[in-house]
Amino acid sequence: MSEKKARLSIDGIEETIELPVYAGSTGPDVVDVRSLVGQGVFTYDPGFVSTAACDSDITYIDGGAGVLLHRGYPIEQLAEKSNFLETCYLLLNGELPTANEREAFENTIRYHTMVDEAIHQFFRGFPRTAHPMAMLCGVVGALSAFYHDNLDIDNPEHRLLAAHRVIAKMPTLAAMCYKHGVGQPFMYPQNSMGFAENFLHMMFGTPCEEPRVSPVLAKAMDTLFLLHADHEQNASTSTVRLAGSTGTNPYACIASGIAALWGPAHGGANEAVLDMLYEIGDESRIEEFIQRAKDKDDPFRLMGFGHRVYKNYDPRATVIRGICDEVLEELGSENDPLLRIAKKLEKIALEDEYFIERKLFPNVDFYSGIILKAIGIPTSMFTVIFATGRTPGWIAHWHEMLSESYRIGRPRQLYKGYTKRDYPG
Ligand code: SDX
Repeated sequence: MSEKKARLSIDGIEETIELPVYAGSTGPDVVDVRSLVGQGVFTYDPGFVSTAACDSDITYIDGGAGVLLHRGYPIEQLAEKSNFLETCYLLLNGELPTANEREAFENTIRYHTMVDEAIHQFFRGFPRTAHPMAMLCGVVGALSAFYHDNLDIDNPEHRLLAAHRVIAKMPTLAAMCYKHGVGQPFMYPQNSMGFAENFLHMMFGTPCEEPRVSPVLAKAMDTLFLLHADHEQNASTSTVRLAGSTGTNPYACIASGIAALWGPAHGGANEAVLDMLYEIGDESRIEEFIQRAKDKDDPFRLMGFGHRVYKNYDPRATVIRGICDEVLEELGSENDPLLRIAKKLEKIALEDEYFIERKLFPNVDFYSGIILKAIGIPTSMFTVIFATGRTPGWIAHWHEMLSESYRIGRPRQLYKGYTKRDYPG
């Protein structure tokens, strides 16, 4: 039972309304406003800036301090000491796996990486020029045609099987989106390879050559997936939760998350950052774009900068910036002009009052595209990479919500349209 109370007095309502206040294990307290509808009032919070839509044990963000914890472990430590599949296990199960659990989980994922051969035909229907996110959205939603009829979402084992399937198949489908666009044969996953190594093999391997993936690039890819794995109640995760609250199947939920992630204000920002860096083109034009970003009459924003929660450095951006240098050095392109522009842009922005005053720092998307481009991944595939990394987070939140009692999400509104009027005549 909550000890702390909030007291709300509203003009026109005689008595003071007492609302319970709950504390989490850390972070801001929450005021339980559920009883307000009985008083004939709603809360109003477009964009959910001040709204906790659920409780969760999975990820905690302290935006002021630039802290990101997955089940309590700081993202910097996971990036240094863990790997993507171990982090998937952690997000899903709440604890790091033992050696046996890790091996069993890796095998489980390994043996779910293939997709039904019929899915190859789906891609044949897309134009070569289709955006990879359009294809990914379509084929992931279609996975429910293959699996959902024997899925009982109230059965935790069924939910975990669905989670394993979707985590395992995303890299295979992601690579197929790329291969379709370049007109090359789809590559089958190799059970002898690690998760990220397999993904790069399916992306860049061909039936004409022996599999060959750089361990440095595989490690960088694995860390990028890990850094994107989860991020609390962001727009796409909230979309997955809302879809899941209707009882629909997990593949439809993940497809809804992919659709939400695509937007340039969210996961589409990594693609938009590269487009922006290409548009800037030269360090001499940086100031022009900084001025445009500050101009209220210009819709241009500095892509990869700013965050709803972080009012400090996004800790993921810091890790990715470090990997940037390693990968570009490995590839002998440490003098990459885009990296030079990005670093100069970051420096100038962080010294500019407009960005300082609004606490606008580089976010996860600012540097990730530079690494992906260096690895040879086309810009149009960047958000597909983000979606592949974010899948464990989406499905862990779906699984967590269905593990507890939940209600269908159904927000209300402040109605400002016509009041009742009669049809003329
Ligand atoms: C992701 O939520 C998550 O956790 C998301 C994510 C995840 O892992 O899931 O972290 C991934 O989506 C990262 C964000 C990627 N998006 C971008 O990089 C796009 C550029 N950034 C912005 O569009 C913006 O910063 C948002 C969308 C990220 C945040 O928007 P908010 O919280 O609604 O902030 P806002 O739009 O109200 O901006 C506050 C002020 C405004 O100025 P004023 O009206 O106060 O004068 O800051 C300005 C904005 O104009 N501003 C920017 C800016 N971002 C905010 N001005 C210039 N360039 C920018 N990038």
